[in-house]
Amino acid sequence: MNSMPATATASPPERKSVVIISDIHYAADAERACGNDYELRAIRHPLLRALVSIYRHYFWMRHPLEQGRQLDRFLSRKVNADFLVANGDYTCDTGFVGVSHGAAAQSVQECLGKLHERYGGRARFVMGDHELGKLGTFGGNGGMRLASWRCATEQLGLQPFWQLAVGHYRLVGVNSSLLALPAHQGDTLPDEWPEWQRLREAHLVEIRAAFDTLQPEQRVILFCHDPTALPFLWREEPVRRKLDQVEQTIIGHLHTRLILWKSRLLAGIPRINFLGRSVQRFSSALHEAHLWRPFRVRLCPALSGCQLLNDGGYYVMEIDPAAKQPAQFTFHPLPR
Ligand SMILES: [Fe+2]
Ligand SMILES: [Fe+2]
Repeated sequence: MNSMPATATASPPERKSVVIISDIHYAADAERACGNDYELRAIRHPLLRALVSIYRHYFWMRHPLEQGRQLDRFLSRKVNADFLVANGDYTCDTGFVGVSHGAAAQSVQECLGKLHERYGGRARFVMGDHELGKLGTFGGNGGMRLASWRCATEQLGLQPFWQLAVGHYRLVGVNSSLLALPAHQGDTLPDEWPEWQRLREAHLVEIRAAFDTLQPEQRVILFCHDPTALPFLWREEPVRRKLDQVEQTIIGHLHTRLILWKSRLLAGIPRINFLGRSVQRFSSALHEAHLWRPFRVRLCPALSGCQLLNDGGYYVMEIDPAAKQPAQFTFHPLPR
């Protein structure tokens, strides 16, 4: 006969798993038709074009429009998890104006469709800078467009802000392009600037409310595509007051740990305003990179990693809903 133990101990609540991927840079047919040299063609100066070509070929990504294969490779692993978070940049943004360009919208739709098919309502999506448009790194054309914002939020279903409660944990997704808007003014059109500012303020209202209502026993896992946004978030008093409860901030955008390492090395450098928009943007981000530290940053690399190191992959995060143990992260390499 079975007898009950004298002291019944409640079994600990089951751990929850979250698979995290970032910077898929998927290209559907219309973007693939642009050709892998689409960025180089936008650079007019032959010497600069040659240097960028070498950089792309050996370090960054030789065939940028072939990264969709990595998504298929990831999906073929059938990673079982309670949730999936994708941390932004679903398109290659071949038009440099985000998803208001039909080809980029097609890429995002196809990419999200594949993830929805596998993870359904358990998937959460962070918006990346390429969904909204971005000046070409060296070509100087394109930029953030309100039409892309509308397409991303109204047609493609990308929410600028979301929260997911998992026991005592709150997973929070924010929009780095809006937060770092003051650093991106040069990427916007002058007549669209007031509306971007209004959107940023509305986003901050949501973030402040989320942190204001955070209970002392709760822990936050923050998802923020571009770490350039973190110093702007740090300036928000309700966020700064509860920073101890932010256990980890998952960033993307940098694609490889090599860039994160370089960013930490160069943290605090002065802003460089005389070498063009891209150098200004990059140096401004690094100038304040010391403020990334209080957010306990963890980089989820691009699914394809970088050309040189082939260091792509994804994380699986295991959460103790009672928040007695910190979240555990396991990185799974996904070589090309
Ligand atoms: Fe990216
Ligand atoms: Fe990005």
